[in-house]
Amino acid sequence: MNKRHILLIGLMGTGKTTVGKRLARVLERPWIDTDQFLEGKWGYSIADYFAKYGEEAFRDEETAVLQTLLTDSPPSVITTGGGIVLREVNRERMKKHGFVIHLDADPQTIAKRLKNDQTRPLLQGDLHNRIKQIYRERQGKYDFADLRIDTSRLTVDEVLKEILANV
Ligand code: S3P
Repeated sequence: MNKRHILLIGLMGTGKTTVGKRLARVLERPWIDTDQFLEGKWGYSIADYFAKYGEEAFRDEETAVLQTLLTDSPPSVITTGGGIVLREVNRERMKKHGFVIHLDADPQTIAKRLKNDQTRPLLQGDLHNRIKQIYRERQGKYDFADLRIDTSRLTVDEVLKEILANV
C-alpha cells in the first residue's frame, strides 16, 4: 500500500459510496465524497443545485473540489459523482494522485438498485432508458482505472475483499 489516495469511480448505483465508506474504515483512512462535500459547502442538495444552475456549473464545481481534495487531503478514500470522468482533466488528475477503482454494474442491476431514488437529477423520466442511455454515453470513460470490478453479482463484502487484494 502506498500513500496515494484511493478513488472510486463508476456510474450511479454501482456502490461507490457504500463500498468507499467501508473501505475507509478498514484502511483507517478518511472517507471523502465529492457530492457530499459540495452539498455541505452549498447547504443544499445536488438536485437543487442542478435545478438552479444546471449541469455545466455543477461540473465546474465538481472539478474544482476534486482538485482541492486530491492535493490538500491526507491519503484518503475518495468517492466521486458518476459524471466526474466526463472531463479529461479530472481523469488525468485522479490517475496522477491515486489508485483508481472502477465499480461497474450492468444497466438492469443499476435500475433495480435505484428504482426508489429521488435524489439524482440525471435520472428523471424513464429510469431504465435513462440508465441505458447514460451507460452508452459514458462507455470507455472509466477505462483509465487501475482496477475494474463488476459489482452486479457481488456483495459489498466481496467487493471489499477484491479491492483489499489489489491495493
Ligand atoms: C451524477 C452522479 C451523481 C451526482 C450527480 C451527477 C452523474 O453521483 O454527482 O447527480 O452525472 O453520473 P453518484 O454517482 O454518487 O450517484
